[in-house]
Amino acid sequence: MASSLKNSKISQNLIQEYRGKLLQWYDRHRRVIPWRALPDETPDPYHVWLSEIMCQQTTVQAVKAYYLKFLELWPTVQDLANAPQEDVMAAWAGLGYYARARNLHKCAKIVANDMGGRFPETQEELKKLPGIGEYTSAAIAAIAFNVPATVVDGNVERVMARFFAIKTPLPNAKKTLKQKAHLFFDGFKDRPGDLAQAFMDLGAGICIPKSPRCPLCPMKDGCMAYEKDIAAELPRKIKKTKRPKRYGCVYWVQNNNQEILMHRRPEKGLLGGMLALPSTEWGNKKDVQHLESLNKVKPLGTSVYHTFTHFDLELSLYTARISGPMESEYEWMVHKNQEEKLPTVFKKAFVAFRQQS
Ligand code: ADE
Repeated sequence: MASSLKNSKISQNLIQEYRGKLLQWYDRHRRVIPWRALPDETPDPYHVWLSEIMCQQTTVQAVKAYYLKFLELWPTVQDLANAPQEDVMAAWAGLGYYARARNLHKCAKIVANDMGGRFPETQEELKKLPGIGEYTSAAIAAIAFNVPATVVDGNVERVMARFFAIKTPLPNAKKTLKQKAHLFFDGFKDRPGDLAQAFMDLGAGICIPKSPRCPLCPMKDGCMAYEKDIAAELPRKIKKTKRPKRYGCVYWVQNNNQEILMHRRPEKGLLGGMLALPSTEWGNKKDVQHLESLNKVKPLGTSVYHTFTHFDLELSLYTARISGPMESEYEWMVHKNQEEKLPTVFKKAFVAFRQQS
């Protein structure tokens, strides 16, 4: 941090000036978002925590409906802690990255049962809780408790890369970008939560990834990328390798009571703990090795496709009957509304099966 400290002395006035301009802009243009306290309200730490966990890897737009549903189902952290895990997983279905839901529930139990329902207020203590890492602890500390923590998400990284014209590509530039963000947050006790959310709103509406809207930006006069006319080229990113493809089979197994066979996936691994349709392992080859306990397997002649972070998946659809006893993680369920509890890939398969039957 030595060079940035030197830097900070040189540019402290500049930082202060543009932090002020950004906050002024925020006061006029802040987005109305369900979990955001209004200027005269005190933020509710449960609301802040819930929204920040949901916003990890997910857009604000996609989160809104889930956030409102969770609050309706579980208005307090105690309510969430007391909920059965499968209800929490079902309510999370479709939001992705399901480890977040398992950790959310674990965290709620710790806060409700061991901490008297109160979230810790420091970044250090917050980080000890399941599902809360560097970014989320900073965001909760700043937004819920007014702690001047340095909040660095993708938006803040983009704004910093442009404001300081950092040409080093991501992810290598992460440390430098955090040091730059630190210049704005460090010791700023007035409105750290607003500052974090101002950067987020700037990154979401003005300093957007493609075609940034620089003429509207409150920070443009200090922005080095704007001055050099290279804002749209930053931040640079190291090219990602192409996603590999994986294949599997998914089954619609119905009994004589019009129930279908559902599978509770193991806690560990992809889509862990989520309800699913029975499916094979997902491998690199397209060859078919059906589940042993099934027979009368018939192809439906169609597939569903889904993109995960690290691979693309093609699932071939089959109808089948069961030929023997099923393990305890399988369960017969009436199929009405079951798709609402499924992660998106299985919801796609479920809907495709229903259309064909
Ligand atoms: N993304 C994550 N947290 C956010 C917040 N509080 N406001 C806007 N976008 C966000």
